[in-house]
Amino acid sequence: MTKSTIEGRRKAPFVVPDRHEIRTDPTRACVILSLVADALLAAGLRKTYRATVALDGVDLRVGAGELVGLLGPNGAGKSTLTKIACGLVRPTAGKVTVLGHPAGSTAARARTGYLAELFRFPGWASADEVLELHQRLARSGGGAEERTELLALVGLAEAARRRVEAMSKGMQQRLGIAQALVGAPSLVLLDEPTSALDPAGRRTVRELLEGLRGRGVAVLLNSHLLSEVELVCDRVVIVDGGRTIAEGAPHELAAAGGVEIETAAGLKRFPDAGREQVPTLVARLVGHGEEIYGVRVVTGTLEDAYLRLVGKDAR
Ligand SMILES: Nc1ncnc2c1ncn2[C@@H]1O[C@H](COP(=O)(O)OP(=O)(O)OP(=O)(O)O)[C@@H](O)[C@H]1O
Ligand SMILES: [Mg+2]
Repeated sequence: MTKSTIEGRRKAPFVVPDRHEIRTDPTRACVILSLVADALLAAGLRKTYRATVALDGVDLRVGAGELVGLLGPNGAGKSTLTKIACGLVRPTAGKVTVLGHPAGSTAARARTGYLAELFRFPGWASADEVLELHQRLARSGGGAEERTELLALVGLAEAARRRVEAMSKGMQQRLGIAQALVGAPSLVLLDEPTSALDPAGRRTVRELLEGLRGRGVAVLLNSHLLSEVELVCDRVVIVDGGRTIAEGAPHELAAAGGVEIETAAGLKRFPDAGREQVPTLVARLVGHGEEIYGVRVVTGTLEDAYLRLVGKDAR
């Protein structure tokens, strides 16, 4: 992929400049600001639809180049938050900025890429035509080079001329992701981008997301695929009933699973113990004449933590 400049979505091919390039070119002041300001900042966000409270005072921050997973049960408010962030829905109260600009403003939209959860492209359009249309909408000057890069990035290099109606669901989802990256956005909002993808497709998207992070692009990823979120996200925010109920790095949220010690008399489990208690536990067992053959600190998964926090019952 070629390295080039970014000037919002107007002329930008896919890649943001490196930090040295930015420092040595004072005309890129807006880009420096973009890298300093939070990619997305929501404060006290509230949205009601008549009697339904979709968001009930959510605070959320996505730093520049940060990959944040937005989790929560069906109806928690994830898509509503995402739609507000890209200016499609107006909040009832609260404030949202994208790189310092009010969400929905021209400046904010120019820096935002969005993949809706239930999107539909015209069936008669080819993959290349869909991207061309979005280049026009985003005023991207990336041309054929950008389209080719993006299709290759999502594994659709061979499908540029294939019509949407002749694509599988997963191929359409890949095209949707490519569409969200048109115009080199600094913030990408992906609402369940991998729900239709096969394992290889999910890995492709995971690598793509890591690539974006490496280039300073911030991503807010709505997903129910907790194992994937755990693999790729720097931080996760869990919402439920329109409120944030937990937030942190996946490994911080993952529930501790206790300590298992293998002794001559068999496996002994200490479900409430953590890593820091291992020396004491081992010393105590040895003091009681036990022979120790192995010690394992059992770590939980993000799924364990999620189910503990939101409850296991389907609603
Ligand atoms: N346009 C709308 N009109 C009325 N109610 C809405 C509208 N959009 C969303 N809601 C309601 O707001 C709440 C939050 O919906 P939202 O789509 O944000 O949830 P979600 O977390 O994205 O759920 P899912 O995981 O199912 O995609 C739900 O109770 C939903 O029914
Ligand atoms: Mg949703």
